[in-house]
Amino acid sequence: MGDAPLVLGIETSCDETGVGLVRGYTLLADALASSVDEHARFGGVVPEVASRAHLEALVPTLRRALADAGVRLSDVDAVAVTAGPGLAGALLVGVAAAKALALALDRPLYGVNHLAAHVAVDQLEHGPLPRPCVALLVSGGHSSLLLVENVSGAHDGDIRPLGATIDDAAGEAFDKVARVLGLPFPGGPHVDRAAREGDAAAVAFPRGLSGPRDLTDHAYDFSFSGLKTAVARWVEVRQRAGEPVPMADVAASFQEAVVDVLTTKAVRACRDLGVDDLLLGGGVAANSRLRALAAERAAAAGVRLRVPRPGLCTDNGAMVAALGAELVAGGAPTSDLHIPADSSLPVTQVLA
Ligand code: KG4
Ligand code: ZN
Repeated sequence: MGDAPLVLGIETSCDETGVGLVRGYTLLADALASSVDEHARFGGVVPEVASRAHLEALVPTLRRALADAGVRLSDVDAVAVTAGPGLAGALLVGVAAAKALALALDRPLYGVNHLAAHVAVDQLEHGPLPRPCVALLVSGGHSSLLLVENVSGAHDGDIRPLGATIDDAAGEAFDKVARVLGLPFPGGPHVDRAAREGDAAAVAFPRGLSGPRDLTDHAYDFSFSGLKTAVARWVEVRQRAGEPVPMADVAASFQEAVVDVLTTKAVRACRDLGVDDLLLGGGVAANSRLRALAAERAAAAGVRLRVPRPGLCTDNGAMVAALGAELVAGGAPTSDLHIPADSSLPVTQVLA
């Protein structure tokens, strides 16, 4: 792989400024700066704050990535950047930087889809993805189930959406429930930790879109807003009555409701479509219970499971570089220097 092109990847779609360097399937650097602490007191990512933080962090993060990889900017053969979906102003910072670099270095530009990048990143850890595979992408901004024929997505239909959340994203539900429980933002890791001490069967919280009718109309869709409200009500009733709230039990029972639905639907999609490989990605894929239950259910269904390490599940620059490398290797067309940042880029469009 020593001769494979050196691809730079830039990610700024939410609150992480990521710069990665990849050759083929080899990860050379994955530098990250996060503005998460600046959002904590607001209980959610504030787009303007994120954009400003990207502006300040981008060049230092780029320098760090180059130093970590031991390469110079002039060694870069192609520049990939998340063109969408994500926060418009935040995306714009990365897209503008990538265009400037591509122009100054006279190298090709690839504006890529953030969701496809979450899929491609697994190749850095586990090698080429089996074709086809089903991907479950769950994060603070998205929850989708995809049928991936070809991760480079050069052709129509290479990435086919099977289902998605119809309201809150899975990570958003974790963050909102954490808030109800008085845990800091972002709440996912805190709920995960608290749940380890709790009883997942303590409260029977609702499983969204899992009734008999939903299984025909919304077989692969998700809904977490009703669950979030059910948790808030349950806690409120205890608090009103002056009773203590069993935080660990609530966290564990809520988490179980989310991962039960996610794993059931993902494994069912594999079975229905005759696909043998399931991939998890996105920040919520760092959840320890999701990883364990997915492993258990995939094994029971004869499905092979691939989950990148937690640091590659959350947003990062390596995933963008990984998809860029895949596109370069597949001879995909390059992006125009005038491509916009597209906050609602559809998952079927891998390349902007
Ligand atoms: O992919 P990501 O870094 O950013 C986007 O939202 O695109 O995902 C962040 C989300 C947050 O909602 C966070 O609470 C959640 O992933 N998360 C977790 C865990 N680690 C991060 N949720 C549940 N359990 C975790 N261990
Ligand atoms: Zn993401």
